[in-house]
Amino acid sequence: MTCRIALLFGALFFASPSTARNLGVKKTSTRVPPVLAPNCRNVQISLGNVSATNFDYRGIWEDHSDMDFNSWRDTMKVFYSCLDPENFVHDIPSDSYGLVVERNVTIHGIFCEPEVPVPYNERQIHLLIHDLTYDKSMWHGLGLPQYSLADALASGLKGSHTLAVDLWGHGDSHGETYPDPWQVLQPPFHVKTLHEIVKRLRRNQQGLWSAFENVTFVGHGFGAQLGALLLDEYPNDVNVFVGSGFPTGKLSRPYPTEWRLVPSISTDSKYAHQPLGYFAGELNSAADRENILYGGLYDLELAELDFVSQDTIAVGEVCWSGSFFSDMSIPEDSKFTGQVCVLAGEFDRVACGDLPWQVEGEACREKLQEVCNFTFPNSHLCNISVLEHTGKAWMLHKLGPQAISTIRSWSARGNSWGNLCTVLTPGAVRY
Ligand SMILES: *[C@@H]1O[C@H](CO)[C@@H](O)[C@H](O)[C@H]1NC(C)=O
Ligand SMILES: *[C@@H]1O[C@H](CO)[C@@H](O)[C@H](O)[C@H]1NC(C)=O
Ligand SMILES: *[C@@H]1O[C@H](CO)[C@@H](O)[C@H](O)[C@H]1NC(C)=O
Ligand SMILES: *[C@@H]1O[C@H](CO)[C@@H](O)[C@H](O)[C@H]1NC(C)=O
Ligand SMILES: *[C@@H]1O[C@H](CO)[C@@H](O)[C@H](O)[C@H]1NC(C)=O
Repeated sequence: MTCRIALLFGALFFASPSTARNLGVKKTSTRVPPVLAPNCRNVQISLGNVSATNFDYRGIWEDHSDMDFNSWRDTMKVFYSCLDPENFVHDIPSDSYGLVVERNVTIHGIFCEPEVPVPYNERQIHLLIHDLTYDKSMWHGLGLPQYSLADALASGLKGSHTLAVDLWGHGDSHGETYPDPWQVLQPPFHVKTLHEIVKRLRRNQQGLWSAFENVTFVGHGFGAQLGALLLDEYPNDVNVFVGSGFPTGKLSRPYPTEWRLVPSISTDSKYAHQPLGYFAGELNSAADRENILYGGLYDLELAELDFVSQDTIAVGEVCWSGSFFSDMSIPEDSKFTGQVCVLAGEFDRVACGDLPWQVEGEACREKLQEVCNFTFPNSHLCNISVLEHTGKAWMLHKLGPQAISTIRSWSARGNSWGNLCTVLTPGAVRY
């Protein structure tokens, strides 16, 4: 794995956007657990000990600043300086702060079987990996069946199995005590976890599934980035890779202050047990989240539901490689040879535009093509698609139900719908 890290030394000069500290803990939502289709069920995948070489962030910050890890203010400053790669001035050799972390991991997921059983040798599975500030339910329409891509993929005569998981430290995957947001929740550890999940998909798992020959990895945002890192390290893990909302911005856009992320414990009582270092959108920041993640055609209620069901983002996830928006953390020249599809909503401010007013179709196509050229030059087929009338969280826009109806109608006829790339090709989806 390519490991690069950049770090702001000296003064932490970022002005904190706000202090929600005195607001007290209020409930933004009581998250209603998604109603699962009859062919879907909650599963727990015990991975045993997973180990990875992460970065010793606590060590780095202790050595280079008088950071107090129990300080709300200091944690905010580090978090916000990490959101903005322009703040980073020095590279740190990865070997001087390498840290081997080992944790006993159990991953929670939603596993769906095809609605109509398919012959054993035609079985395939879509492994669905969520973005940061989301969990597995993003693939299940946040609980709304008409937006559930995972259900649609499992429908009809050519349904696929689907497995939408919660990354470690997100959704229900956190064990008895939440993992350390600095030392554990970093891409190298997530990648090892995904590798362990895929290994299990390839083998019979008593009570869960029997071995899959074809695995399609579908990642959104951070999930796509993790997928690219996974394939960089393990090019034979999956057969097809679909990455949407890839962070391609050269600069930090949206602006760090637009997110209004604050320590999660101040936002919702469901995060009461999260340590300092987990962040979520401030109580009154629903409109900001909508501005960043939505655009084009969508239902306002979805944007509202999106806000109240938001998951968190850990400081280790943001600080790794400078910024998770930074294209520095996208690997170069992966040996992966399978089919790749790179997608983004035309109004995706992270994947499509460096500046909000520069977001446009043609420029976005070029950016996505660069991902093919830069990261997947060995893929035998790397397709790109700019999704029209949609922002970043495309599966939760009007496009979602439209794509779902295309998938369902192709699958009902027994036509292989190929992969999401084909379905989401402009022209295939009708408005
Ligand atoms: C991990 O935890 C599970 C359940 O708590 C336990 O059964 C298993 O032995 C543990 N594995 C390791 C390697 O510690
Ligand atoms: C699992 O990891 C824990 C924490 O590092 C360690 O104490 C334990 O010995 C490990 N167990 C096995 C079976 O490797
Ligand atoms: C798996 O996918 C490959 C193409 O990537 C295809 O040739 C093969 O038939 C598929 N196998 C199964 C079991 O579906
Ligand atoms: C990608 O590579 C192709 C073939 O080498 C080249 O023609 C094209 O200009 C490149 N596109 C971008 C955006 O880098
Ligand atoms: C994918 O790209 C190939 C050429 O690189 C093209 O022939 C094919 O039609 C594209 N498929 C889709 C679904 O866009």
